Amino acid sequence: MLIKPTASFKGEIQIPGDKSISHRSIMFGALADGLTEVTHFLQGADCLSTISCFQKLGIAIDNTPERIVIHGKGLHGLRPPASVLDVGNSGTTMRLISGILAGQPFASTLTGDASIQKRPMNRIIKPLQEMGAVLTSQYKNGCAPFTISGSSLHGIHYSSPVASAQVKSCVLLAGLYADGRTSVTEPSVSRNHTELMLSSFGAHISCQQTTVSVLPDPVLTGQKIEVPGDISSAAYFIAAALLVPNSEVLIQNVGVNPTRDGFLRAAKAMHANIIRLNERTVSGEPVCDLLVTSSDLTGTTVEGDLIPALIDEIPVLAVMAAFAQGTTIIRDAAELKVKESDRIETIAANLKNMGADITATDDGMIIHGGRPLHYAAIDPQADHRIAMSFAVAGLCAEGGVQIQDAECVCISYPEFYQHLQSLCS
Ligand code: S3P
Repeated sequence: MLIKPTASFKGEIQIPGDKSISHRSIMFGALADGLTEVTHFLQGADCLSTISCFQKLGIAIDNTPERIVIHGKGLHGLRPPASVLDVGNSGTTMRLISGILAGQPFASTLTGDASIQKRPMNRIIKPLQEMGAVLTSQYKNGCAPFTISGSSLHGIHYSSPVASAQVKSCVLLAGLYADGRTSVTEPSVSRNHTELMLSSFGAHISCQQTTVSVLPDPVLTGQKIEVPGDISSAAYFIAAALLVPNSEVLIQNVGVNPTRDGFLRAAKAMHANIIRLNERTVSGEPVCDLLVTSSDLTGTTVEGDLIPALIDEIPVLAVMAAFAQGTTIIRDAAELKVKESDRIETIAANLKNMGADITATDDGMIIHGGRPLHYAAIDPQADHRIAMSFAVAGLCAEGGVQIQDAECVCISYPEFYQHLQSLCS
């Protein structure tokens, strides 16, 4: 896919539904009694993987363009799958469903694509084993494929070494099937969509600083959920509007949960012109419209507790930093190495090819911004967020960019290139 430079980036856009919230709506809907109706569901490949896994577990799910309807069967209504559960590229599906499967009276095997088979699963295998679950990694390497055999679970207090909503959610979901209270403490707070949505279905969840607890055996009741637009997807349009001169874009209906809005805070520190309009709450999640205009960006430091609140936006933040005046330092972000690709490496290699001054570090990167960037062929390593971030870079680089394997954006944003093009002139 060739992305050409554009003179301006203007107009209005509706961003597809939030990926994290879409996944959870299917999972919790499946475990609830009665119907759950979901609108603005993200029809990306990852969320479709979640649907197909729960269909294999005996849940009827109607997927129409207007809405998803999940025919929930209650906490104990899942059925043994007839075949292996394939999560595709989706880490969220694999890690969250594992927590649910750990509490079932049957065995299941989980697998996924080449990327998912390299991603660390010990981070969920360890706490689930501590709860009494029996998990066996097929190649004994702490990765998928692995089998989870049904067992009775004990409530635990787990101190997670990483701030990860996937780990936290996995343990809390297993906690629904445990014999007592289950708690998770993380080094800093990760996205809290599980806590918000599971409570709205009727689970007993309490949060104190960096610890979340759940009580077992709740009655979950089907809900109506409107999924907010995904701030991670909005970030590409925000970045493009900031970087391309003569731009003004109104991005409607963006989820701005404080555990997810770190990108907006970092952009503000870079002197971005972003105005929040029409702030409201949709299905328990804070939402607003964002008005973004071209800005002269400056470098910043991104670190510590801010990292989990913008972890998926770091690729596009790095692109912004390459065009900003001054130095940007990103640290405490070693988690980037175990995403859909090693994002420290893929960002650094591709930005270097475009002429940027970037040094990869063990837990982030240092970018001396302001050099003019030029054409390069971008290899996103099949990582959707890398492809979309470098498409934004292409809008502002001399000669644009060629994105190889461009269709990998279907993981989280199938209409991405059409939407991007519609604002270019
Ligand atoms: C997600 C959590 C984050 C994020 C991922 C989605 C979720 O991963 O990077 O894209 O929906 O819970 P970690 O929990 O591994 O940080």
